[in-house]
Amino acid sequence: MLITFEGIDFCGKTTQIKLLSEYLIRKKKKVITIREPGGTEIAETLRQILLEPKNKMNSFTELFLFEAARSDLVEKVIKPALTEGSIVLCDRFWDSTIAYQVFGRKLPEDFVNQCNFYSSQGIKPDITFLIDISLETMLRRSKSLKIDRFENEEAEFIKNVIEGFRTIAKLNQSRFVILDGDEPIEEIHKRIVEVLSNKFGL
Ligand code: TYD
Repeated sequence: MLITFEGIDFCGKTTQIKLLSEYLIRKKKKVITIREPGGTEIAETLRQILLEPKNKMNSFTELFLFEAARSDLVEKVIKPALTEGSIVLCDRFWDSTIAYQVFGRKLPEDFVNQCNFYSSQGIKPDITFLIDISLETMLRRSKSLKIDRFENEEAEFIKNVIEGFRTIAKLNQSRFVILDGDEPIEEIHKRIVEVLSNKFGL
């Protein structure tokens, strides 16, 4: 099964994925953890290009690089892992492309949906956790951490992305679980485990 985590930078996805992975491993489940963009040699190279602050590019170039990275990751890692019955924990998947490239960069939604469909070979997450934080929380947390090309983007863009994630979650309520990223780490983890246990017996 495919479990994805979404949210803006500094929402705490990575910490939650690590905690969940440890929990599932303790329960003797086969788990793999990946992040987008990345996870294969090609996708990691594309990640470096995408996150390098001096690489200026237009929104379509950016979209195609994210899609190319995803296409390689799905083909070489996600599909085989799902086929062999592993639980795949993914730090971002195509909901990020809708939030960032459609709501943030204003690319045409239908076109991006098509790109997402083909790059992921139609694979859809079984469940998606959105860790929701405000712009204020993000700015507070980001001060002490390294700034990359995305984290440098102006507040307006980030606000649109936050709204984007909230909208996508509302439109896909059967798949999404919204978590308050301002809650303590342990509380969020408990909630994730509770949801997975209720829904999938994990
Ligand atoms: P990353 O450092 O992995 O951020 P995080 O650790 O918070 O997930 O950087 C990934 C950046 O790429 C992040 O700012 C979101 C952006 N992104 C998109 O714009 N579109 C996408 O489709 C994906 C997967 C990521």
